[in-house]
Amino acid sequence: MTKKLIAGNWKMNGNLADNAALMGAVVAGLPSAEALEAAQVSVLVCVPAPYLAQVAALRGPVDLGAQDVSPQKGGAYTGEVSPAMLKDFGTRFVIVGHSERRQNHFETNELVALKAQNSLAHGLTPIVCVGETLAQREAGETEAVVKRQLAAVIHVNGHCLTELVVAYEPVWAIGTGKTATPEQAQAVHAVIRTQLQAASSNAKRIPILYGGSMNASNAAALLAQPDIDGGLIGGAALKAADFLQIVAAAQAVA
Ligand code: 13P
Repeated sequence: MTKKLIAGNWKMNGNLADNAALMGAVVAGLPSAEALEAAQVSVLVCVPAPYLAQVAALRGPVDLGAQDVSPQKGGAYTGEVSPAMLKDFGTRFVIVGHSERRQNHFETNELVALKAQNSLAHGLTPIVCVGETLAQREAGETEAVVKRQLAAVIHVNGHCLTELVVAYEPVWAIGTGKTATPEQAQAVHAVIRTQLQAASSNAKRIPILYGGSMNASNAAALLAQPDIDGGLIGGAALKAADFLQIVAAAQAVA
């Protein structure tokens, strides 16, 4: 059992006023940093890049994450953001390979692996997202798809796997209100754990998060599964009360 990590992914939401209100309410409602540490729970928000500086100043015991990163170190890459730039604002984590980027920006497994590699090289922890579409699940391909996505990352980054976080996010459960049952999620998390174990002797310490319509009412049952080490939360992370309830659920099972 690893520490539980409760991560909000704000996606392309927020503005200065709303972010201040959300972070104010989250920080006010959280237990102290010491209490979170005692319960072995970490809390993270992954915010749009323009707001990293704002949220860095408001974050209290909450860790700071970004939602994407360039595979390049710097230079003539218009619109890209480098890991060093993210680090400048105290960012510790970065999501790579979210299904919205795989779908809308045609990111391949190989590109995701390079983004993870560039993050690791600059001391950022990549949260590597994997997950199948509904069509792939219905075709019985879930395991193969997830293994292929993760294999690309392991192939390139095998030597520093302990610094990774993996997030299993079934595409059909994202933003749809349809959640994988705890048993469905656990089954895939177990496959991911086994694959990590084959690559690293420290695989037990690699957090595997579940994402996809996780909310205040289903979090406890999901987080109680042996290989579910936390959540990557979209919609419910934009509501302080819901996000705090998920953190409380993690404290209760940790
Ligand atoms: P929802 O929680 O809104 O389904 O989003 C999940 C997600 O994509 C987190 O990265």
